[in-house]
Amino acid sequence: MRLIPLKQAEQVGMWAARYIVDRINEFAPTVERPFILGLPTGGTPLATYQQLIALHQRGEVSFANVVTFNMDEYVGLPEAHPQSYHSFMYNNFFNHIDIRRENIHILNGNAADLIAECNRYEEQIRHYGRIHLFLGGVGNDGHIAFNEPASSLSSRTRIKTLTEDTRLANARFFDGDLQQVPKLALTVGVGTLLDAEEIMILVTGHAKAQALQAAVEGSVNHLWTISALQLHPRSIMVCDEPSTMEL
Ligand code: GLP
Repeated sequence: MRLIPLKQAEQVGMWAARYIVDRINEFAPTVERPFILGLPTGGTPLATYQQLIALHQRGEVSFANVVTFNMDEYVGLPEAHPQSYHSFMYNNFFNHIDIRRENIHILNGNAADLIAECNRYEEQIRHYGRIHLFLGGVGNDGHIAFNEPASSLSSRTRIKTLTEDTRLANARFFDGDLQQVPKLALTVGVGTLLDAEEIMILVTGHAKAQALQAAVEGSVNHLWTISALQLHPRSIMVCDEPSTMEL
């Protein structure tokens, strides 16, 4: 595991965006051979998305031959709801870059058959072979995507019940009203994440300090699903100073 300790959250966004752009450009994707990028939502990656948009606007990167897979989506929230992960991704990233719509993949939390939807998503990823780079954040309790504490470390894309802690943490996006936060989500599994060629996790703020400690210094443990990254040959944690306070 590579640990990249930086001073401020803004630098985390800049470092991560530059890394992603360099990886895409080195790969030199084409229509036949696209670059496959896994993407997260949440407050942490916003700075990275802003930097990626800026680099795109400066002509340093094109997303025309990039295929994306998002990590997760709430169940039952209309796609057009301002807090759906669909809305988040279009508003904060996709609407500002040259990605082709057909290259965007986000789980459908309103599918009639949610289990079939999860299986279909895994098949779509398999169709491309492998995700080249999966970008992620981490929950205060060490969850990755929506793989809540006690998720199997070999889990695949599936339905998860969100913990009260996760719903409380995300209530800030729903006018602080816990009742509005969905109770279920679809999420890629820890196993799905570990299959990626490379994983980069962004960690900012003091609230994530325990999760970072569990990820870096703890034992591999299904109660802190982020710790599964220790099993991955190419994982990178990009962190700001407050998040490293427990190391
Ligand atoms: C949610 C998302 C995770 C994200 C976490 C932390 O639970 N499903 O992918 O890492 O929130 O979000 P934030 O970056 O807002 O702290």
